[in-house]
Parts: sequence; C-alpha cells; structure tokens
Amino acid sequence: MDTQGMSINCKGAVLWSYNEPLVIEDIQVAPPKSNEIRVKVAAVGVCHTDYTLVKGLGSGFGPLPVVPGHEGAGIVESVGNGVKRFEPGDHVVMIPAPQCDNCEICLAPGNYCCVHGKEIRVPTRGNHFDGTKRFSSKGKELSCMFGVSSFIEYTVVHETMAQKVDPDIPFDELCLFGCCVPTGYFSAAHTGAVTKDSVCAVFGLGAVGLTAIMACRSNGAKRIIAIDINPAKFEVAKICGATDFINPKDYDDQPMADVIEKLIGSLCDVTIECVGLQETVKDAFLCSHSSYGVCVVNGALPAGKDINIPAFELLRGRTIKGAILGGKKTLDGLKELCDLYKAKQLNLDALITHRMTLEQVNEALDILEQGKRNGHNSLFKWFDAGR
Ligand SMILES: NC(=O)c1ccc[n+]([C@@H]2O[C@H](COP(=O)([O-])OP(=O)(O)OC[C@H]3O[C@@H](n4cnc5c(N)ncnc54)[C@H](O)[C@@H]3O)[C@@H](O)[C@H]2O)c1
Ligand SMILES: [Zn+2]
Ligand SMILES: [Zn+2]
Repeated sequence: MDTQGMSINCKGAVLWSYNEPLVIEDIQVAPPKSNEIRVKVAAVGVCHTDYTLVKGLGSGFGPLPVVPGHEGAGIVESVGNGVKRFEPGDHVVMIPAPQCDNCEICLAPGNYCCVHGKEIRVPTRGNHFDGTKRFSSKGKELSCMFGVSSFIEYTVVHETMAQKVDPDIPFDELCLFGCCVPTGYFSAAHTGAVTKDSVCAVFGLGAVGLTAIMACRSNGAKRIIAIDINPAKFEVAKICGATDFINPKDYDDQPMADVIEKLIGSLCDVTIECVGLQETVKDAFLCSHSSYGVCVVNGALPAGKDINIPAFELLRGRTIKGAILGGKKTLDGLKELCDLYKAKQLNLDALITHRMTLEQVNEALDILEQGKRNGHNSLFKWFDAGR
C-alpha cells in the first residue's frame, strides 16, 4: 500500500511516567514535513542514555510522554518537500545531532555542534525542528527523543540527521553508528587524538568504551588499559584491543592514578571516560599525564551533577574535554565509519550481545541495568534487511 503523504499506524514504545515500564502501543506517525524523511526502522540499539531517560535520571530530554530510542537504522519510506539527498528505499542510519553544512559551526572546519541541535533540545525539547510533533497515541502528542526516536516501527527525522549508506551493511550493525560507535571511536581517534604509541586508559566497557578501545588500537596505541567494576567485560575488551585490565574494586581506596602509575610507570597520554559518574570523570582526569595528558569525557553525568576536579591538577597542564557523539561533525563521521567498516577496522559483532523484539524492550533495559551485557547493545530486529 502506498503510504506517501498519509499517517501510518504502527507499534512503538511509550514512556508515560519515569521509572515505569515502557508501554507497547499503537502510535500514529504523521507524514514527513519539509526537509524530513520517514523511515521504517529495521534495527535499534539500546544506549545507556535511553536508560537514563526512562529512569528520569537525566536532563534535556523533553516532556513526557516520549518515544525513546536514538540509535536506529532503517529504510526510507517517504520524503517531504525539498529533500534532495534521499529517496524511498534508501538505507539510512539516523544520528541524534544534525549537520546542516550551512551554519556558522558547520562551515568552520574544526567545529561540530551544528546550531540546529539546539532546536530539537532547548527550548523546544521533544519536538522536531519546526517545533511540532509527529507521533500521537490515545489522542495525545508524544515527544521525540533527540529528534530520532527509534523504539518504534516508523519514525520521522530531519534530513540533516540521517546518512544514506551502502545496503551491504547489515542493519543490526549499522544501527550502532547512530550513537555508541561514533561516540567511542571519535572520542579516542579525533577528540583525544590517540596516535601511534599513545598510552591510553578507557573507563567503562560498555559499547562506548569498547569502541574507544578499537579506535586506540587502530591508531597504534602502545598500551590500552581497560577499567571496569564488572570484570566480565574484560574478555570482550581484550578482543577489541585492550592490553591491560583494572577492576577498581580490587584496589580498595587506592587512587586510580597510583594504580596506573604502578602498572605502567607513568600516567596516560589519553584517558577516555565512558561511564558517566563524578568519580570516574575525576579519576580519568587524574590518570592523564599531569603535564600533557588529555582526558575526554563521554559519560553523561546525572542531572544536577557537576564535574568536580582539583583545580591545581588542571593548572599543571593537562587538558579535559567533553564530546557529543565523539566530537566530529556527525554526517562526515558516519561516512568515515562506513569506510572503516568496509576496511574491517570495526568489530561491531563484539558490541552485540542480545537480539530482541520491540515487545522485549523493558527486558533489554533490565539487562543493561544488571550489567549483563558484554558490550552494550540489545537489538530489536523487526524485519530482515532489504525486505
Ligand atoms: N557523549 C555522548 O555523546 C554519549 C553518547 C552515548 C553514551 N553516552 C554516555 O556514555 C556512558 C556510557 O554509555 P554505554 O551505553 O557504553 O553504557 P553501559 O551501561 O553499556 O556501560 C557502562 C560501563 O561502565 C561500567 N561502570 C559502572 N560504574 C563504573 C565505575 N565506577 N568504574 C568503572 N566502570 C564502571 C559498567 O560496568 C559498564 O560496563 C553513559 O553515561 C552514556 O549516557 C554519551
Ligand atoms: Zn546514545
Ligand atoms: Zn549546522
């Protein structure tokens, strides 16, 4: 049936109250407006930030009810007026921050936070770019997560938040390009500038941390220290390229910087924080070399928590940086990731621990909470690629 220009009725997961299970229900998805595309979602990953939203622990998500999920890939079903880069049938990955190629940020070579990112967060949180919503259920409009809600069979995204990709890349791996892979990879390779013989430490071995380890290895790092309180993660970290392993629980109250100094005789060139806690940010900062170390923070700290680091340690010369989606222009980054994938530089299989259905979304969030995952991604796979 031709659905172009019509509202589509499909299944999706809705968060009506924080800390309550998501409800799978019928959702009406409006057709795409100007410069938007409607995508049939084929696969979606579960990121820790989805968990943060569902538990009500974060900020900047927009009002409830909301359709969570922001790591999706699928097939373009229809396009709105003015869309030039996409047509129905294209395989796409969606990414929760735009690249318009036209604003002051996008036009400058080193920058990455396109000014239009603000339009989908503050002050029109939970909306699409034009300030309106595309989903509704039971007569109520539903918010969109970061402009790319993906725990739903069809979604609508602005064309600046999707990249057309080679149909050869399977959707279950491709969806990871929507968040954890660019975040981990570019936080190390781009923002952290890991290079040949760098000594690196990665805090937190979810998919973000594991992908950061892959980037350290591809860039020729000499030592890659993997740190997690769950030692079950060390095996997969080794497969991704880690050379040393630290469980902070084995060292009681010893400062992590002392533990690392004993292990390698120095502090690190680059540390990458992929947990999202005040204490791990502080540890990652203090484990970077006091004179020239670089600490990159990926973790999203709980709402209201500030980064807390000793001021004198900053004055000694080390640098602390934060990054959204790794700190690279989002659509340029996706092109690069596709090339790396083809060159077999990314072991995405290592990041996938469960393949589940949309109906199992609450179970997937429980698995994340319990830390059962080696990597990070529980996947909802609704149909086979190319169908
Ligand atoms: N900056 C961005 O653009 C961006 C993008 C994606 C995710 N994130 C954030 O990055 C963080 C990681 O995301 P993820 O999906 O990989 O999470 P995840 O839950 O899959 O993995 C987190 C890992 O940290 C470990 N951990 C918990 N406490 C620890 C501690 N005290 N010391 C060491 N390790 C500890 C856990 O055991 C787990 O292995 C989250 O805060 C998430 O919100 C940020
Ligand atoms: Zn994410
Ligand atoms: Zn822009």
